[in-house]
Amino acid sequence: MDDASSLVSNGVPSAEDSSPSSDVSLTVDRPVPTTLDAIRTPVEDDLEAFRTYFREAMRSDHFLLDKIVQYVLWQKGKRIRPLLVLLSAKACGGATTEITQRAAALVELLHTATLVHDDVVDDAEERRGVFSINALWKNKIAVLMGDFLLSRGLLLSLDHDDYSILHTLSDAVRRMSEGELLQIEKSRLLDIDEETYFRIISDKTASLISACTKSGAVSVTEDDALIERMDQFGETLGLAFQIRDDLFDFHMEDAGKPIGIDVQEKKMTLPLIVALREAERSDRKRILKIVDQDEKSREDLETVATFVTEHGGIDYARDRMESLAEEAKSYLAPLPPSDARAALVGLTEFTIQRSR
Ligand code: IPE
Ligand code: IPE
Ligand code: MG
Ligand code: MG
Repeated sequence: MDDASSLVSNGVPSAEDSSPSSDVSLTVDRPVPTTLDAIRTPVEDDLEAFRTYFREAMRSDHFLLDKIVQYVLWQKGKRIRPLLVLLSAKACGGATTEITQRAAALVELLHTATLVHDDVVDDAEERRGVFSINALWKNKIAVLMGDFLLSRGLLLSLDHDDYSILHTLSDAVRRMSEGELLQIEKSRLLDIDEETYFRIISDKTASLISACTKSGAVSVTEDDALIERMDQFGETLGLAFQIRDDLFDFHMEDAGKPIGIDVQEKKMTLPLIVALREAERSDRKRILKIVDQDEKSREDLETVATFVTEHGGIDYARDRMESLAEEAKSYLAPLPPSDARAALVGLTEFTIQRSR
């Protein structure tokens, strides 16, 4: 099946079927961009509008808040989520609207708020290669800053009556909180299987990423099957995204956040879960004892990392991540060929190859 035959006659993606397709080449029509700069090209103008909404929504006359806002703007993340909103809209409908651009600002505001809170929850002192907000201003201020960003996001949507988008995003925030809570609950027991891990990462990470791709679609089309397909694309991509993040914790390359902090915080991620499952009983006991210690030395963290590698945890997680990325791409196959669709394919590949 080629791109053209996978479309219904009017050039709109199939409305009935939202299951992934496996046999459509997504690279036949145009080259897939590989760098973030190239991936951004189809939505360059929208990104400019997004930046304005984002910056304006964060403004505050309060001296301390403004200082922290400037710091957050300077820290600057990869901004993958707004990019997903804009590219999804473009790939679905061709033309974005102001609703799309505000949705992009809303997701980045919510994402930033949850990261500021996440670093308090995880006791992390580093974010985006520099000090986290809690490291510089302490937990109390970081909690309030996160709340400020969250409320700014809500207001941006309410001021423009973007209810449908706000509904999708609010549900994602609910799931993120539930996912983070389930993770804390499980880390206390050190007892978690692969299924529970996937439930956690689906809620804490894939929820927001699928809300990005879904709200991008919602902003330009009323085709429910297409919206559902974009939702599933984001969900699958989001799972791969978090596995990539969890792999960072076991590697020595600098990802701009502390290495070994998941193990330090007793966070059981896929590589560790799988290694424990594969290990002999005595090895399992020895490693769990280290993980359970409240304080761990550099040597302890290295022991755990070596154990995980030797018991195939890294390879297994990498394989799962790669097959999820393939599945994610297959959801895009029935969409009409466009630069935006090629960029979404590129962004999926970037997600699993990225070094931060
Ligand atoms: C980090 O997300 C949080 C996770 C879900 C793992 P990103 O890696 O997108 O963070 P920034 O915004 O680029 O810093
Ligand atoms: C993802 O979890 C954070 C959120 C979904 C809020 P992590 O705790 O693994 O993210 P990082 O590694 O701190 O960015
Ligand atoms: Mg964290
Ligand atoms: Mg992490």
